Amino acid sequence: MGGSEGAAPARVRSAEERSASREFPFSDSEFAFIRELVEQHAAIKLPDTKRQMVYGRLVRRLRDLRLGSFAEYVALLREDAGGPEFVNLINAVTTNLTSFFREKHHFEVLRERVIPEVIQRNAAKRTLRVWSAGCSTGEEPYSIAMTVLESLPASSGWDVRILATDIDTKVLATASAGVYGVDRIRSLPEEITRRGFLRGRGAASERVRVRPEYQAPITFRQLNLMEPWPMRGRFDFIFCRNVVIYFDKPTQQRLFDRFADQLVDGGYVFLGHSETMHNLTTRFRLLGQTVYQKVQ
Ligand SMILES: C[S@@+](CC[C@H](N)C(=O)[O-])C[C@H]1O[C@@H](n2cnc3c(N)ncnc32)[C@H](O)[C@@H]1O
Repeated sequence: MGGSEGAAPARVRSAEERSASREFPFSDSEFAFIRELVEQHAAIKLPDTKRQMVYGRLVRRLRDLRLGSFAEYVALLREDAGGPEFVNLINAVTTNLTSFFREKHHFEVLRERVIPEVIQRNAAKRTLRVWSAGCSTGEEPYSIAMTVLESLPASSGWDVRILATDIDTKVLATASAGVYGVDRIRSLPEEITRRGFLRGRGAASERVRVRPEYQAPITFRQLNLMEPWPMRGRFDFIFCRNVVIYFDKPTQQRLFDRFADQLVDGGYVFLGHSETMHNLTTRFRLLGQTVYQKVQ
């Protein structure tokens, strides 16, 4: 037993928080304004516990813009609603944590159940349509591409398209480049790293690039899930993992309903490990491990 049992653990402040310790005053009303703006536009909730994080990230914007106070930053956002600084604000407050083959059981469900079912259902037209909604820096859609193409070799004549979207324009730039530090793939099985990535040489030896055959089926686009969606076709499955956790329940409910409309009958939604559709919709049934199948 650890000697500290029963004692409240000391909260460890992140480097981001420490370096940002109050260079600029940040009033309750300035935080409230930013919180409301972000929630109205992107549905992302910023509870009081995130205040220090928001401060730390926005202080960089103040410095870059050579502003002297949060009051000036708020004034700029008021003048510029929907303008370029607004995009930077959203980019600054999103949480983008992701990794290749994150929640690896989902890729087993894909391989063993979902893809074989799609192969049967779509045998005549030979199309497979996927949406990675909230794709962050791209590790999720690339992991999907690797899993799908492993089951459907390029020579098989299947037309595979993966739409990968995020509200954050900065992460999308990384995603479409498809270049990562080697540390991002260090824990993957050797077979995947060999098949999926090209190692850089010389000055780029600490970087890897996703092989072009796994980039080819993916289209990266900026899309706010709260706005109308331009896609006309339906998807065979949707990954929306670790995104709705930041939304309130009514917003999740509306989103799940829209996902059902955007899926083929019997299509699937993959949520993140701490997310659920429980009590929010009757249009899906739970298969297990946060994988849901559309039933109506
Ligand atoms: C934690 S990441 C999840 C990445 C990946 N799906 C995974 O599970 O590894 C959440 C992503 O959702 C995006 N996001 C948050 N609110 C959004 C919204 N309203 N519309 C679209 N994307 C949003 C964020 O920008 C962020 O990149």
